[in-house]
Amino acid sequence: MHKKTFTHLMFALALTLVISTLVAAQTPTLSIDVNQVKGKVSPMLYGLMTEEINYSYDGGLYAELVRNRAFTDNRRLQPFHWVLYEAGNADASMIMDMKNGPSAALPLSLAVIIRSATDADQAGVSNLGYWGIPVRPNTTYQGSFYAKADSSSIGPITVRIINDETSNVLASTTVPGITSDWKQYKFSLRSDSSSASAHNRLVLTAGKPGKLWFSMVSLFPPTYKNRENGNRVDIMEMLAGLRPTFLRFPGGDYLEGDHVADRFPWQKMIGPLVDRPTHASPWGYLSSDGMGLLEFLEWCEDLNIEPVLGVYAGYSRRQDFVKPGPDLEPFIAEALDEIEYVIGDTNTKWGAVRVKNGHPAPFKLTYVEIGNEDNHDNSGSYDGRFTQFFKAIRAKYPGLQLIATTPVKSVVPDIVDDHFYHSASQFYDDVNHYDKFDRTGPKIFVGEWATREGSPTPNFNAALGDAAWLTGMERNSDLIIMSCYAPLFVNVNTGGMQWESDLIGYDGLTSYGSPSYYTQVMFSHHAGDQIVNASVDGSPLRFFYSVTRDSKSGKLYLKLVNATASPRTLTIHLNGVSKVGKSGKIITLSAKTLESTNTILEPKKIVPRESMIGNAAVRFSHTLPPNSIEVMELDAQ
Ligand code: AHR
Repeated sequence: MHKKTFTHLMFALALTLVISTLVAAQTPTLSIDVNQVKGKVSPMLYGLMTEEINYSYDGGLYAELVRNRAFTDNRRLQPFHWVLYEAGNADASMIMDMKNGPSAALPLSLAVIIRSATDADQAGVSNLGYWGIPVRPNTTYQGSFYAKADSSSIGPITVRIINDETSNVLASTTVPGITSDWKQYKFSLRSDSSSASAHNRLVLTAGKPGKLWFSMVSLFPPTYKNRENGNRVDIMEMLAGLRPTFLRFPGGDYLEGDHVADRFPWQKMIGPLVDRPTHASPWGYLSSDGMGLLEFLEWCEDLNIEPVLGVYAGYSRRQDFVKPGPDLEPFIAEALDEIEYVIGDTNTKWGAVRVKNGHPAPFKLTYVEIGNEDNHDNSGSYDGRFTQFFKAIRAKYPGLQLIATTPVKSVVPDIVDDHFYHSASQFYDDVNHYDKFDRTGPKIFVGEWATREGSPTPNFNAALGDAAWLTGMERNSDLIIMSCYAPLFVNVNTGGMQWESDLIGYDGLTSYGSPSYYTQVMFSHHAGDQIVNASVDGSPLRFFYSVTRDSKSGKLYLKLVNATASPRTLTIHLNGVSKVGKSGKIITLSAKTLESTNTILEPKKIVPRESMIGNAAVRFSHTLPPNSIEVMELDAQ
């Protein structure tokens, strides 16, 4: 080789060495002490929180298709969501009858006066559903209504689903024998092969003159696990996809109500639907109460998860509160009865009611939360109220874990519930919130949290904030035993949302997960059971991580978040490991822009993508894409 060429080559080599040393010096190292277990990952870290908000149950998970089915939404002469139906020359009118109803709980009904009608030109009423009645092809719908007539000469009732755009009848049946006494009539409707649509109404008509009264008109599509009075299949499947371990219910503000009298009336939300009077939810609409205490518990049963039961504790969100002492005793009795309904023997008063309602076996119950967000109670009464509830519940049910909604002084709660609604940057700044927390006090339940960016469902920037926060919770999950995002659901139709940034969106026919939903899927599917010690040098900007391991499989899970617009190269060093399997994989969630999101029309725009790691070793380099969330699964022995 020519001497000059050799000198050039040597110079280039030296330069490369200097540059790579400099780059290596700037590349942060994530050091993972694989055999240093800092604590156990709580097996219940990932759960669900729910309440009636954003049409979560009515017009959401609860599969009922008829809106204002009991005519209680507005107690005026013309009920909301119902319209008169007159075909051809038929002539009729409808009016609320406030004194005529099928039960003590529902002492009202809709009267339909048919002055003229024929079999061809019928008259009656139609229900517009929750933004339409969604209908899929070749599907059987189960329906029922309570009715009576002034004379049996009114003939059979025709029940149809009619498309609003084409006027085509998608399904039809008749119900004969309406008598002059209130009675429930059941029917089923089989849809034709028309393609799925939500622009339909349910129509109930007669072909002869006379007067009819209707109440509790109901129509259900097939439900999850075929439960009667059950839940939507697609949304339940989305929940199962999160692999949750518990359900916190019934709220949230929905537990409290605006005033004491509006609290969650669990005793009136059990048993036959016709015995449920319905009640005002604090979120601006009336709850049908079809999703009652038993339905919440069956929802847990269907997903094989535990209930976290919130009991009303004498504070409502407009600052009503009940003074601790004798005034609070009836509310404590209500809570004890509620617990008895859930877990009492069949020979107890409320255990026997549960049996009557169709569920002889007691449910599993470990966690009871006393109130909701009592830090907002300006009277300062929570310490006294909590103490009184705590002592009474502990005395009767010593095995239950009792959750306070804010710190108290007079007794030591088992768990305290902390809530966080933040922007992404607030979560980045607060990601070490629990790192130095006292480990000798109560455990922590992060019972509501969310990055509130994006509407109706969160955008990708929110998912980055969520992921950062999740790394902090997971690293501290020896202390944080449970966590759940809120709110869980939103009906994305106009007027469906009261609270922005909700995990799962839907309309009548379809549902989708937000980027935040997929972030949680990535974390909960790779929870592991051991928190592994890890540290990063150089405090890289907006880089967040947590490392866990599954002690059974030996798999190591790295959650890595790069919340910057540049790619980030890391050196990953697995201390205490001699061999790293080549079959490692990476699951990545990223998006073109921070504002990008999923919608009804683009439900899978942002979803996790899986790839293999080519270079996994005891020490290896990895580059995180700009603005990305990654879970790395390594086989490290
Ligand atoms: O999640 C929405 C609301 O936020 C809950 O009802 C309440 O607990 C909190 O303030």
